[in-house]
Amino acid sequence: MGKLLPSGCRARLPGAILEGGDGVPKLTTQLDEIPVARRLTPSVPQQQRHGLSGLLTLLMLLAGGIVVGMVLFLRPAQDMSTLPDPLTEPMPQPEADGRLLGHFPYPVAHGADLVEVIPGRRLHRDAATAFLAMQRDAAEAGVQLRLLSAFRDRETQHNLFFPIMVERDQQPEERARVSAPPGYSEHHTGYALDLGDVRHPKLDLDEAFDQSAAFAWLQQHASRYHFRMSFPVDNGQGVAYEPWHWRWEGSSHALELFEQARRFNAATLTIH
Ligand code: DAL
Ligand code: ZN
Repeated sequence: MGKLLPSGCRARLPGAILEGGDGVPKLTTQLDEIPVARRLTPSVPQQQRHGLSGLLTLLMLLAGGIVVGMVLFLRPAQDMSTLPDPLTEPMPQPEADGRLLGHFPYPVAHGADLVEVIPGRRLHRDAATAFLAMQRDAAEAGVQLRLLSAFRDRETQHNLFFPIMVERDQQPEERARVSAPPGYSEHHTGYALDLGDVRHPKLDLDEAFDQSAAFAWLQQHASRYHFRMSFPVDNGQGVAYEPWHWRWEGSSHALELFEQARRFNAATLTIH
């Protein structure tokens, strides 16, 4: 893998003043060095010549400044979203079935379809209704479900995937075991969520969450609300076991989005 650069790294444009400053003294020196006898122009008094060369210097500076200013002003505006990101360069190509490092591609939900379930956590409105019903019924059974993560856009997923990969000095394959690359997370759809047990925050986003009362309740009841655990032990996608990550498949739209993943995992099911 090539050396990774911070995404903010950009080549600096040469300064206009430096370029103008280089050119002007060279011109006046040349003029001064031509012997008086060989000049084509009539001789002019010393003071006047200095005045002329000062004026010339000023004009050159002015012209240089205008040219550099025009170049900077008129160059086409760069769309930051289309700039190549040095952090994404070492990523492999997706498989023929669309999977990238085990993860299927997902569209990002439309903002109009998302509702805020708790401050800062949005879900597709259908998944939100189902989740709130499930949370209420779990509470009645003495289990407190906490919504840890819900909808995530591509930028958020990017910031989860790449900086941590770089920080941990990982290859994309290793990072993708626990986090989907941007564009490939079920969280983009607004139908996926990460759940915790309010009584056991230490188990949040940990495999040991499967020892909690919340997980036991989910295993028994989540399917009634059309929630399915996306990444069980030894799932065919090769993603690490995530007992906290569930997706909602209760509408034709949601079913369709996850059909490929569902079929793939059913076909590659490991029998223990
Ligand atoms: N942690 C899951 C795989 C995601 O990032 O979507
Ligand atoms: Zn998740």
